[in-house]
Amino acid sequence: MRLSEPILTARIPSWPFGDPAKRKVVSIDEYTRTGGYQALEKALDMKPTEVVAQVKDAVLRGRGGAGVPAGLKWSFLPPADGAGHRYLCINADEAEPGTFKDRLLCDYDPHLVLEGIAIACWACQLDVAYFFIRGEYHHQAEVMRAAIAEAYAKGIFGPQGMFRGKVKFAVECHLHRGAGAYICGEETGLLEAIEGKRGWPRVKPPFPAVKGLFGRPTIVNNVETLAAVPAIVTRGAPWWQSIGVASATPGGMPSWGPKLMGVSGHVARPGCFEAPLGIPLSTLVNEYCGGMRNGKRFKGAVAGGVSMGVLGTDQFDVPMDFDIGHRANVLGLGTACPTIFDEDTDMVAVCRNIVRFFKNESCGQCTPCREGSGWAYQLLTRIERGDATTADLDLLVEVSGSMGLGHGTTICGLADGVDWAVKTIVGKFRADFERRVKPRFIPVHLAAR
Ligand SMILES: Cc1cc2nc3c(=O)[nH]c(=O)nc-3n(C[C@H](O)[C@H](O)[C@H](O)COP(=O)(O)O)c2cc1C
Ligand code: SF4
Repeated sequence: MRLSEPILTARIPSWPFGDPAKRKVVSIDEYTRTGGYQALEKALDMKPTEVVAQVKDAVLRGRGGAGVPAGLKWSFLPPADGAGHRYLCINADEAEPGTFKDRLLCDYDPHLVLEGIAIACWACQLDVAYFFIRGEYHHQAEVMRAAIAEAYAKGIFGPQGMFRGKVKFAVECHLHRGAGAYICGEETGLLEAIEGKRGWPRVKPPFPAVKGLFGRPTIVNNVETLAAVPAIVTRGAPWWQSIGVASATPGGMPSWGPKLMGVSGHVARPGCFEAPLGIPLSTLVNEYCGGMRNGKRFKGAVAGGVSMGVLGTDQFDVPMDFDIGHRANVLGLGTACPTIFDEDTDMVAVCRNIVRFFKNESCGQCTPCREGSGWAYQLLTRIERGDATTADLDLLVEVSGSMGLGHGTTICGLADGVDWAVKTIVGKFRADFERRVKPRFIPVHLAAR
């Protein structure tokens, strides 16, 4: 299952279409020479509402994790009231362990992202864009900063209006570097960080579309989501829908389009590939990554970022689309960047490692997340050391199973990562845990009651 041509990676040589060794940063001159910024010209000839309608028809589902259709999100914005700025915040935080797809775009084709940003601003009538990039992406931040400067110099951004003032619609674009906190990838934590505050997620509603950055209407979109917009504007929604898969659930939301999938872990050739949504995980591993490393057997995989939970040994053939959540009992597709585990992997250690990450990254506002992630980590450490009993295992499942947005006990979805890691890993690899814990003996006088 392959694309007939590269779309998001048209200018980034990638397997199976090109040699990754030949990658280089695409300058604005090369970008425009190869058809770049023509989609923006086309969009500017359309009414903003027509652009929103086209993206809505395409059902471009957000590539940042939750899969919310971009056109639908854009349509939640209130009409422009002339009372202040309206913002686009581009989420390039990409701090999810094992996820490295937005980085590919920032590294090599920054103008594809900037063109998507300019089109989204026109469609939604937003006049200021903040490109929020994770603190550790030093090189990518410099590439993006240079590309933004190029776009200003060529008159795409700036007060004169787009295309050197030919179109009287002006957008200012700023780059904002994060300071290294995972929670600043959560959209309202990101807004707080841009405002110069501690990245504490906000209680929703109000949603950012209504009251976002500096209290004004704001759209938050992922880098890859915006990079997909120029192709949709150029080729139309029916073409976008010819790639990917419909939902297997009658009336369910489809998974159209190509997707960047960064594959890491125990595969022969890890890397970031562009593939159609719906590709089976086993095809991604066997065809794109040259199979399992050292010919070992597949044991499991992080579905798409560690917050989504883990796939079991019998789920190797699962299609990588937005139905994966209910089909494979994980939280969702997430970033579609799987980490593969071979037969020698200790799933207790995997679980402890994931929970340790969330414990360290919890912002501390909600008690179940702040305290629960620490307790879960302590229990897992005890289990991994061989000092725990079956009662500890039950307690672990109980503690983690009561935290998260899914249970209505936290402000944001970070805590759900602990819940899904524990319930999927313990549920799908219970034998690994039971081998480590000692049975809890119940005294005869209590058992007899
Ligand atoms: C704890 C947490 C971390 C997140 N990190 C990211 C991130 O690094 N990048 C991202 O695009 N979305 C991240 N998200 C999702 C964002 O909140 C938001 O849904 C997304 O940026 C919207 O863009 P999209 O609709 O284009 O996918 C995170 C969510 C949570 C709960
Ligand atoms: S769930 Fe955790 S990370 Fe999210 S707001 Fe609450 S304490 Fe902070």
